[in-house]
Amino acid sequence: MTLPKNLGIEHPIIQAPMAGITTPEFVAACAEAGVLGSIGAGYLSAEATRDSIREVKRLTNKPFAVNLFVPEQTEMDQEQLRQAYLALHPIGKKIGLPFWKAPLSESSFDAQIAVIIDEGVNICSFTFGLPDETVIRDLKEHGVYLIGTATNVEEAILAEKVGMDAVVVQGKEAGGHRGSFLSEELITLDELLPSSIEAVRIPIIAAGGIANREQLELQLSRGAQAVQIGTALLAADESGAHPLHKEAVLAATGNSTVLTKAFSGKPARGIRNQFIDMMEGVPIAPYPYQNDLTKKIRAEAASKGNLEFMSLWAGERVGETAGGTVEEIVGRFVGKADG
Ligand SMILES: Cc1cc2nc3c(=O)[nH]c(=O)nc-3n(C[C@H](O)[C@H](O)[C@H](O)COP(=O)(O)O)c2cc1C
Repeated sequence: MTLPKNLGIEHPIIQAPMAGITTPEFVAACAEAGVLGSIGAGYLSAEATRDSIREVKRLTNKPFAVNLFVPEQTEMDQEQLRQAYLALHPIGKKIGLPFWKAPLSESSFDAQIAVIIDEGVNICSFTFGLPDETVIRDLKEHGVYLIGTATNVEEAILAEKVGMDAVVVQGKEAGGHRGSFLSEELITLDELLPSSIEAVRIPIIAAGGIANREQLELQLSRGAQAVQIGTALLAADESGAHPLHKEAVLAATGNSTVLTKAFSGKPARGIRNQFIDMMEGVPIAPYPYQNDLTKKIRAEAASKGNLEFMSLWAGERVGETAGGTVEEIVGRFVGKADG
């Protein structure tokens, strides 16, 4: 059976899980448009994950996935944290936050897995690593279809080995965080897709810079069973992205994005702004601590409408993004006339 049939979707497209952006309304609109909706639950508590799942179920009967961040063991070095906090002070001052509290977050991964099983979610995708054996066994026993993320061939091979049913191969062009967990090397989708197809037998989903119908068809003709698109849907009317984030995405021409660890401690691609420039060469805490340290700054900037200090995640093909409803955007990918 092909991947779209397996997932129960009409078009070979997965709406990229985008933590912080994929509101239930957006996910349901994507599902209704015939693509796989995905709740980006990475930053949610278990209860918020449950609420989001229930709301999507209320809004649509179509299939959808939940995406989780696989937690990592990161050593916490107090001195390193202090340095990283101090390095953020000039930015804090600029937006009227001379001091701020930065409580360290805790992963809700295990509790989220319990919610996924409890709520009967059928499809679960992962980024930043692969879950351990017990979690995989548990999810499989409950019939959950598992999708891993790989940014190089070794990660794709491991995803297959541990029992993922399919794998997203994320080229360097992709917006948002890199899913990398074995190495941070940057590989274009053009290179990564064929080498992954050669190395693994599970279905492959191509991600990174897929901005139009031609690129969708090209990736399918090269052997991808589906594509995962983020940036192209980011500015949709139903998307939960901050209005200024949407404006910046729609206004972008060419590739105005860079990879940066400045916001979270993990490499991620977004539209270049003052925050990224000011953080050049200063100490940065490892993920997830840098994310905790910058959380208040990002929230303050968002509430003040200051896009220079927000994380404006977007992929290399951001310049090609057009607005509209989810249905209109999906229509452009699958050849239906705009509504
Ligand atoms: C705003 C934004 C947030 C993202 N958040 C997540 C996430 O929570 N989980 C995940 O697996 N991928 C996340 N990604 C990466 C996407 O899954 C996908 O790899 C990427 O969007 C594909 O490239 P494109 O943006 O050029 O379409 C995010 C991407 C963007 C643009």
